[in-house]
Amino acid sequence: MSSLDPLASSPFWIKIAPQERAYPIYIQPGNLSRLAPLLLGRLPAPKKVLIVTDKTVHSIYGEQVKNQLEEVGYTITTHIIPDGEASKTLPSAEAIYSAALDAGLGRKDILLALGGGVVGDLAGFCAATFYRGLFLVQVPTTLLAQVDSSVGGKVAVNFKTVKNGVGAFYQPQMVVIDPRVLSTLPERQIKAGLGEVVKYGLIEKTRGAYIRESFFDFLEIQADNLLDVYPLLIERCCQIKAAIVSEDETEQSGIRAYLNLGHTFAHAYEAATDYTQLLHGEAVVMGMLKACQLAEALHLFPNSETRRFLKLCKTLGLNLEPPEGLEPNTLLTLMHQDKKASNNTINFILPHQEIGYVVARNNVTRDQVLSILSFDKN
Ligand SMILES: NC(=O)c1ccc[n+]([C@@H]2O[C@H](COP(=O)([O-])OP(=O)(O)OC[C@H]3O[C@@H](n4cnc5c(N)ncnc54)[C@H](O)[C@@H]3O)[C@@H](O)[C@H]2O)c1
Ligand SMILES: [Zn+2]
Repeated sequence: MSSLDPLASSPFWIKIAPQERAYPIYIQPGNLSRLAPLLLGRLPAPKKVLIVTDKTVHSIYGEQVKNQLEEVGYTITTHIIPDGEASKTLPSAEAIYSAALDAGLGRKDILLALGGGVVGDLAGFCAATFYRGLFLVQVPTTLLAQVDSSVGGKVAVNFKTVKNGVGAFYQPQMVVIDPRVLSTLPERQIKAGLGEVVKYGLIEKTRGAYIRESFFDFLEIQADNLLDVYPLLIERCCQIKAAIVSEDETEQSGIRAYLNLGHTFAHAYEAATDYTQLLHGEAVVMGMLKACQLAEALHLFPNSETRRFLKLCKTLGLNLEPPEGLEPNTLLTLMHQDKKASNNTINFILPHQEIGYVVARNNVTRDQVLSILSFDKN
């Protein structure tokens, strides 16, 4: 089988009801150079493709993707946004709508997101809304986007002070992941992605994806040479997310909320530092430690398991210390303002009994949360 044969990369399918909406996730080193055959297999040319990417990703991978798709008959337009969270706005979306209009895209054409979570969320939002829906293809290039944001259909832009304030659930037609692109990703971004990876280890057993050795055990065993196992690691994360999303696509039953482990704290850390100091995944690591400590205080989770979590994070080189000087009361106020809080109660997802299981709790007292936020030595 040639390395350019699309079948060389057999995807797994993420099941979204009704069945026609299931979509494949291709994960294999070298997939970026197989993008054309993979796309042809699902959304055959001729079609117009608007590639949305950011400046850095375009400079490394933009031409390669464009040329490859043109060669097999797609008509390509590229729209480049500045790097970073500041691009996830309605004006950026409007610029993409204009590019789509100028390129003459119709509802059977493709919006292809080539980049990290910022590009994926923004382009996905445009795909969901332009003409009430274009075909969306996710080609995630950060670890965070490969294990998390490109899968599951949450798309959004930030609005005023509300992160992801305007958005939709809109599933892509396919996700194409090439772990090799991580070789150009800065170390700090890799570590931020690892924060979400560890999260999957903490929630995996709660849902059906627990099929082989525990993912947390796998991470503990592989922690020193993760580079060798990225394809498998990404696949396991996507499978865990897919199992949860298949069961609760639009966060109705509460199952999808399990993915928010550590995020209530993390969002407060991010907001308290004006979204400028911490990468999302970095805040998630700190938030997961707080979730472990809160679970311990509520007698839901043994200290020995928190220590296992700490040890793995330290081996992976993940920072667990929130920035100094953050006031517990300010953080608590921000936690109440989080869009997932309702009726003055916060729904915490907490580790439960042993690593891999979580439980939801919405009756944690103010004092209990404050005492965890004040407790800053591990
Ligand atoms: N939709 C979801 O379910 C979901 C889940 C988690 C996070 N998110 C969102 O994802 C966003 C963060 O995404 P992110 O962490 O991927 O950050 P990002 O998209 O800002 O990318 C980080 C940086 O890495 C660069 N980059 C990307 N790929 C590269 C590569 N292969 N080589 C070199 N440089 C590369 C980018 O240019 C950028 O400068 C946030 O807006 C967050 O809200 C969404
Ligand atoms: Zn997250």
